[in-house]
Amino acid sequence: MNQYTSGFGFPQDVIFDDARARRVLSQKWFFVGTRGDVPEPRNYFNFQLFDDQYFLLHGTDGVIRCMVNRCQHQSARLLKQDTGKCPASIICPNHQWAYNLNDGTLRNAPGFGKEFPTSAEGVSRGLQQVPVVEISGMIFACLSDNPDYSDMDEIVKIIAPYTDPFGFEKGGYKLAHHHREIIDANWLMVMINNRECCHCTNNHKGLTQLFDPSSFNGAETPAYKVLFDRAVQRWEGLGLTWQEKAFTLNDSARIARYPMYENYKSITFDGAPASKKLIGPFEDYDPSTLSMWFNPNAWIHFTSDHIATNWVLPLGPEKCALYSSWIVRDDAVEGEDYDVAHLTNVWKVTNAEDVGLCMSMTSGARSTHYKPGPFAADEQHCKQFCDWYMKYSA
Ligand code: FES
Ligand SMILES: [Fe+2]
Repeated sequence: MNQYTSGFGFPQDVIFDDARARRVLSQKWFFVGTRGDVPEPRNYFNFQLFDDQYFLLHGTDGVIRCMVNRCQHQSARLLKQDTGKCPASIICPNHQWAYNLNDGTLRNAPGFGKEFPTSAEGVSRGLQQVPVVEISGMIFACLSDNPDYSDMDEIVKIIAPYTDPFGFEKGGYKLAHHHREIIDANWLMVMINNRECCHCTNNHKGLTQLFDPSSFNGAETPAYKVLFDRAVQRWEGLGLTWQEKAFTLNDSARIARYPMYENYKSITFDGAPASKKLIGPFEDYDPSTLSMWFNPNAWIHFTSDHIATNWVLPLGPEKCALYSSWIVRDDAVEGEDYDVAHLTNVWKVTNAEDVGLCMSMTSGARSTHYKPGPFAADEQHCKQFCDWYMKYSA
């Protein structure tokens, strides 16, 4: 089956077609981190898409920008660590060309004379910038010369009523931990795996202790209905929007609140708080997560004491990078208010379990016997993802 059929997985040639992935990622907006990844002025955050390296940089004017992480002199890498703090200028480690933090313009080029940065050649040597949009503290980038902002308008409309109470875009949060991993898996397999939880009961024994399986699989068991109704009462008491929203005009995003079992205060294996400092609208721990999924590459969870982000970008046909961050209130103190291992354990363990599945699916998709399989009704979001990808990568 080489033709794509809606309701089935991708054909083999689509899965490993880097040119197609590049097309979609040069036309559509994709998730590249949050204000929590670069909470302070001069903080930066590196990421990579195929051979291209970029960084987010929190300017001294408070604006978060995205620039190409390559020097305009002889193309050396400018910022080397995954995350870090820039000096007063962005300085190339090679021959010390210096760029202004807030606009990437060239400031100094040793050996070229004082006038060079303001000459026509010097002006043309500013760092290349990529357009970004910040929505509720979440940053989306677009590589198109002519970005279509309608997806961003749609995402604002969908998520703002849920995320506004967290005030993430106003600051007040910090990066407690960041983890990135290069995975020997195709990035589309990672996304398909993420869009269904039919694999969860068997493969995420830890995660599924926190949630009733009905949360993810649409099975309306009476016990889940009781749990959910009680959660709705709590959420409404706090003035929180809770109705799931999805499948809108451009299919850019889905958002839902899920109750956890009531003996869990946060997304931790022992149910104890992940951080002693509550965030957003919460004055007490709420056993729930506000979760959102963005096409083409991210899934995010807001709880009452931290935010966890996960997103993926392709590096090659069988290689991708998975980025995960844990963000807490900025006055939370490591060792006193939170413990990094305790805070990060659920998603670290769950992601590692998923990585194994995604590697297995990738090698299966390489097989001469590969045939796209059908999606069950409970895998409807996989169908939605595949339809979306085929539509925008053509
Ligand atoms: S390569 Fe950056 S200064 Fe020469
Ligand atoms: Fe999973």
